[in-house]
Amino acid sequence: MADLKGRVALVTGGSRGVGRGIATRLAADGATVALNYRRDEAAADEVVAAITAAGGTAVGYRAAVDDADAVAAMVAAIERDLGTVDLLVSNAGTASRGTSIADTGPEEYMRLLRVHTLGPLELVRLLLPGMRTRARSDVVVISSSIVGETPPGGAPYTMAKAALEAAARTLAREERRHGVRVNIVAPGLVATDMGSRLAAAAAGRTIEELDPSYPFGRVARPDDVAGVVAFLASTDADYLTGQRIQVDAGGPDSTLL
Ligand SMILES: NC(=O)c1ccc[n+]([C@@H]2O[C@H](COP(=O)([O-])OP(=O)(O)OC[C@H]3O[C@@H](n4cnc5c(N)ncnc54)[C@H](OP(=O)(O)O)[C@@H]3O)[C@@H](O)[C@H]2O)c1
Repeated sequence: MADLKGRVALVTGGSRGVGRGIATRLAADGATVALNYRRDEAAADEVVAAITAAGGTAVGYRAAVDDADAVAAMVAAIERDLGTVDLLVSNAGTASRGTSIADTGPEEYMRLLRVHTLGPLELVRLLLPGMRTRARSDVVVISSSIVGETPPGGAPYTMAKAALEAAARTLAREERRHGVRVNIVAPGLVATDMGSRLAAAAAGRTIEELDPSYPFGRVARPDDVAGVVAFLASTDADYLTGQRIQVDAGGPDSTLL
C-alpha cells in the first residue's frame, strides 16, 4: 500500500472501469478523492458510497473533460470543498468509431483529441498553480499500449493518446522544478465496458473467452492499473518523472487483441 494520507486526488472518469479501480485504490491508500464522471451519476454515487463504506473519503463531481466551462467549474468546486489537488489521474476516455483513415473526417479526430488530450491539458493548466505550491504533486495520465501498435481503424484514438503522451513528457520536464512528477501508464486490453466492446469488435469474443489466451491466464483488470498508479504517486517513486509504464504483461500472445 502507498501512504497517500493528506493527498487530494482527482480521478477523471472515476465512475466505471479503470477509473473506478484507481479511485478506490487511492482512497484505500489514504487519499481524499474527487471522483469525476460525465453522465452516469448513479454509477459515481455507487463508487463514492463504496469508498465511504470502506472508511475512505470521496466526493463526486460531474463534468465532461472536453467541456472547458464544466472543467473550470469542477476545479473551483473541488478546491472549495477539498482543497488543493496534488494528484491528478487523467483517466477519462472514449473509443473511436473504428473507421479507416480513408473513411474518417476531421470531426472524429477532433472529438478524440478533445477528450484525450486538449481537455486533460486544460485541466492540468487550471490545477498547476495549486500543484506548484505543494512540496510534491503528481500527474498520471492513462494512455494505451495501442500507441506502439497503431492497428488499422484506430487512428483517431491512437493519435489522441500519442499526443497525450508527447504532452505528458514535455510537462514532466517543464514542471520538475516545481516538484510536479508526470508519468504515463499505458494499459493493454483491460476488462471494463470499453475493453468488452473492443474485444467484441476486434475478436468477436468476451473478455472471459479471451482470458486463457492472455499472459498469466487473464486479461488485465482495473486493479492491475490502479496498483501502478498508486506506486507512481507514492514516495517510492519520488525520483521518477517522465516515465511510461506499459501494463500489459509484456503484450498478448494472441494477435487478435
Ligand atoms: N479498457 C481498455 O481496454 C483500455 C485499454 C487501454 C487504455 N484504456 C484507457 O483507460 C481509460 C479508462 O477506460 P475504461 O476502459 O475504464 O473506459 P470505460 O469503462 O468506458 O469508462 C470510461 C469512464 O470515463 C468517463 N468518461 C468518458 N468520457 C468522458 C468525458 N468526456 N468526461 C469525463 N468523463 C468521461 C465515463 O463516465 P460516464 O460513465 O459518466 O460517461 C467512465 O467513468 C481511458 O482513457 C481508456 O482510453 C482502456
